[in-house]
Amino acid sequence: MKRIGILTGGGDAPGLNAVIRAAVKTAINEYGCEVLGIRNGYDGFLEEDGIIPLGREEVRGILPRGGTILGAANRGNPYARKVIRDGVEVTIDVSDEIVKGIEKQKMDALLVLGGDGTLHIAHELAKKGVPIIGVPKTIDNDIGGTEITFGFDTALNIATEALDRLHTTAESHHRAMVIELMGRDAGFITLNAGVSGGADVILIPEIPFKFENIMKTIHERAEKGRKFSILAVSEGAKPQGGGQVYSRKGDEVYVPRLGGIGQVVAEYIEAQGYESRVTVLGHLQRGGTPTAFDRWLATRYGAAAVRLAARNGFDRMVALQCGEITDLPLKEATAVPKRVNVNGDSVITARNIGISFGDE
Ligand code: F6P
Repeated sequence: MKRIGILTGGGDAPGLNAVIRAAVKTAINEYGCEVLGIRNGYDGFLEEDGIIPLGREEVRGILPRGGTILGAANRGNPYARKVIRDGVEVTIDVSDEIVKGIEKQKMDALLVLGGDGTLHIAHELAKKGVPIIGVPKTIDNDIGGTEITFGFDTALNIATEALDRLHTTAESHHRAMVIELMGRDAGFITLNAGVSGGADVILIPEIPFKFENIMKTIHERAEKGRKFSILAVSEGAKPQGGGQVYSRKGDEVYVPRLGGIGQVVAEYIEAQGYESRVTVLGHLQRGGTPTAFDRWLATRYGAAAVRLAARNGFDRMVALQCGEITDLPLKEATAVPKRVNVNGDSVITARNIGISFGDE
């Protein structure tokens, strides 16, 4: 193994830089290998100056830094790229150009740090012969085959702190405080932060809710003298028989943008006579320095990805299973996205301690 490439695709997540640093150090220390960084996801293969050398100097001091030193692109799907041709916007497939770009660099391995979209593309490129290793990144924690993705723990801590802070105003002003949290179609951030931050109601995509059931919890609390309530609501939560709320529609290039369900819930509560406010935590969940757990996990993933490359373990993804780093085929990891187990102990525990999911 003489030369490896690293790229970060999709949205940023805390811990990306820690993976890059660990991969670069392992490649240099253990294999005497040269490392190249690809800028802005797969786009770097098409851009002038899209590829930069990554040595010890370049990764010095980046362990606690959020974001990615390589830049990311979440419209960077080589299979669906919007371009202007003869003054008209068309969507084209540039995957063969990307493959040529990779071949030109003579890389023995390409580490792809990404979420479900980026890893799906990685598997497709692997089928074209690209020596790819996947590393599971996302605050949503929704990638199959791994117990946890890096970025999730940081998002969870930020969301929990936000819930703690909302408690004080909720209590002082006797309000129903709604917080809308990220996670797309997976409720992990909302469930775990909701439990850790003492929410009274948790709404997640996996458990469709009824507005009347939310009100039942708020009324019951008010009757017992608790005149405030905290509601943790996933951006992907939906009412029974209804749909998710989007702030922007999707197309073949852009995934639909979720957002607005928190406002819908807060307005419903107000219409029932309870003062309510909504906070959309948004990208604060992805920003800033990674937690110690995410740095530790990201470092393990980065080093393990290089070891896997040295074993020619291509078209595979590093993963955490039973607390140990292992790997599995990308096809398997991306086949079924991970979702909250609605019959699992986390949901049962939340119900045991009196949290409502709005379903009963
Ligand atoms: O997948 C990570 C995530 O932060 C989701 O939780 C959220 O729905 C989405 O990305 C937001 O994407 P963008 O940064 O493109 O608005």
